[in-house]
Amino acid sequence: MNEPPPGARATRERNAGAAPIRRAVLPAAGWGTRFLPATKAQPKEMLPLIDKPLIQYAVEEAVDSGIRHVTIVTGRGKDAIEGHFDVSGELETVLAERGRTDPLEEIRRISNMARVTYVRQRQALGLGHAIACARDAVGDEPFAVVLGDDVIDADVPCLAQMMAAYRALGCSIVAASEVPPSEVSRYGIVREGPADADDPRRARVEDVVEKPSPTEAPSNLAIIGRYILTPGIFAALEETPPGRGGEIQLTDAIRRLIETEPVYAYRFEGARYDAGDKLGFLKGTVELALKRDDLGAEFREYLESLKL
Ligand code: UTP
Repeated sequence: MNEPPPGARATRERNAGAAPIRRAVLPAAGWGTRFLPATKAQPKEMLPLIDKPLIQYAVEEAVDSGIRHVTIVTGRGKDAIEGHFDVSGELETVLAERGRTDPLEEIRRISNMARVTYVRQRQALGLGHAIACARDAVGDEPFAVVLGDDVIDADVPCLAQMMAAYRALGCSIVAASEVPPSEVSRYGIVREGPADADDPRRARVEDVVEKPSPTEAPSNLAIIGRYILTPGIFAALEETPPGRGGEIQLTDAIRRLIETEPVYAYRFEGARYDAGDKLGFLKGTVELALKRDDLGAEFREYLESLKL
């Protein structure tokens, strides 16, 4: 009998029963050193783009993609994150007494939008280690990972785009985007195989390198902070020693994973802001503010008045 042709159609047939993605893990236990001193006593994930903390953008993207259970990996000094998603009875009473219906509804929506649970990463030993800390919470199921640093503005949420790709392929998927060659050393960089015949946004990952120099980089296709991972990642993480910066890198574990299972890169559609970086944070603030109904027109007028 002939081998089935390579490509997504055959993969889809094999993976018609791929387990659904029910949980998103949001690592939020890093030090946020690029944002010091703002992050000395408050979590980076609580820095707001306009009026919404980064972590809320991440939770909303998961919820808008159909995920109801969110596990946030927190560490020391991250209590404000728990407070943000908790019910705030006193604040609700004050807003109700003052007839402030809109913010009241928004506050209630935040505490009801997802089932949020927390796991603790006792030491910030790296993104890979943070994911490993969520192992018991995740169990033996595929799951999503959303990094709040990467805010993605898209008509269809980035994670929803990736979940559609996962339903077709049934394997781990990393979000990917081309970056200028001068920036490859800030990312995990992918060496990709040929684009998938069914959807050119998808390509099999042949190798990944964490933060390579421009001369070492296999391409300029960078992994962005969205992942769909099979539970196989936990075994890979267990075998992953500390890598770049002495941290247990998720990229290194993905490199191990591709030795035993296929992993695909997905070029998502949408504008991405690296809100973990000061310039990216400013760009995101400006562009999202320009799109806001309540601020956009006045803000645009102001920017134009600067005559830069
Ligand atoms: P970053 O690489 O941006 O690290 O982490 P960081 O510590 O947050 O920030 P800088 O580089 O010092 O400014 C990417 C994501 O992984 C999480 C972070 O919270 C962020 O969401 N992370 C990182 C952890 O949860 N634990 C870690 O040990 C490291």
